[in-house]
Amino acid sequence: MSSIDQVDGSSIGSMQKKSTNYKDQADDFFSNFLEPNNLNQIRSQVKQFIDCDTNHPTVLITSGGTTVPMEHNTVRFVDNFSAGTRGSASAEYFLEKGYKVIFLYRLKSLEPFTRHINVWQLMESLSSSDSGSQVGPSIGDNLSKTVKIYKENKANILMITFTTLAEYLYYLREISFSMQPLGPKAALYLAAAVSDFYIPPTDMATHKIQSKNGPISLVFELVPKMLRPLVKFWVPSAFVVSFKLETDESILLDKARKALLCYGHHLVIANILHTRKSQVLIVTEKESHQITLPNPEMEIESLIVDEVISRHKTFINMKLNVEKLI
Ligand code: PMT
Repeated sequence: MSSIDQVDGSSIGSMQKKSTNYKDQADDFFSNFLEPNNLNQIRSQVKQFIDCDTNHPTVLITSGGTTVPMEHNTVRFVDNFSAGTRGSASAEYFLEKGYKVIFLYRLKSLEPFTRHINVWQLMESLSSSDSGSQVGPSIGDNLSKTVKIYKENKANILMITFTTLAEYLYYLREISFSMQPLGPKAALYLAAAVSDFYIPPTDMATHKIQSKNGPISLVFELVPKMLRPLVKFWVPSAFVVSFKLETDESILLDKARKALLCYGHHLVIANILHTRKSQVLIVTEKESHQITLPNPEMEIESLIVDEVISRHKTFINMKLNVEKLI
């Protein structure tokens, strides 16, 4: 086992006396949960999407937050703030730049293209007559660019939804395996806000927890960081971009650098909760720089995606040149 595969002892909860190896920890986590029923179906959908052109740059974008159920028959769960803006906006920019996109997103979080439609504005703009309903010109004009990009690119996006943390991780692993034939043309853009804590199914109540029994205390175990097995085993030739969210600016850069060192991937996009829509930090092992939104008409995701694509191109060329030398 290489030293990088050892988990820092401080990150292992006292309740969790398990393996100190990233791969074993990931396997332990999966063995706690049954495979999602539709995993085979997702595997073949992704395979079909990729196999038609393994030479085409393809990005897996993850988006939205994961839920952590408190009961098997789930009434209550722990969730997080992520709305899926980063992921859904980025998907549109990748498509516009010619990428194929696998969009793995939290059910009911924002989706590419439909995120531009405000249903109340749509209701207001609709006129009704005996021959049907018509959309008013104001809404139609505002949406025309979005509709055009959607129509031109709809064959290049595959949408897959998840709700729980376990579903998300099962799908992430499966899609990563399926992307292997793309070699360096595969990119992963991990913008989902993934829970670091979970309740093992063996510790979970079967039915709705009853309030008549008084206050409850729940123990959450640590979810192993899946980035290391992902980079090393699941899709080792891909270009991998992770996101790092903090609320304390003074630790952001340091944590982003540590993530790169620890997981061995290529780029971290670091952001602070309250300023994430106007500035991000682009961090590699060697350098870091800030991207700031130049005007409010733009979306910062267009700048992030340009940066990622340019670095992905360099990565592909470097890998292809190395292959030529061998
Ligand atoms: O959706 P929006 O509202 O637009 O918000 C966008 C965002 C703030 C969610 C996004 O920009 C962002 O920062 N996403 C990552 C947030 C996060 O979960 O950070 P983290 O420090 O917990 O995890 C860092 C990385 O490790 C993530 O890329 C995550 O995919 C990965 N991870 C996390 C937990 C885990 N068990 N295994 C992992 O591999």
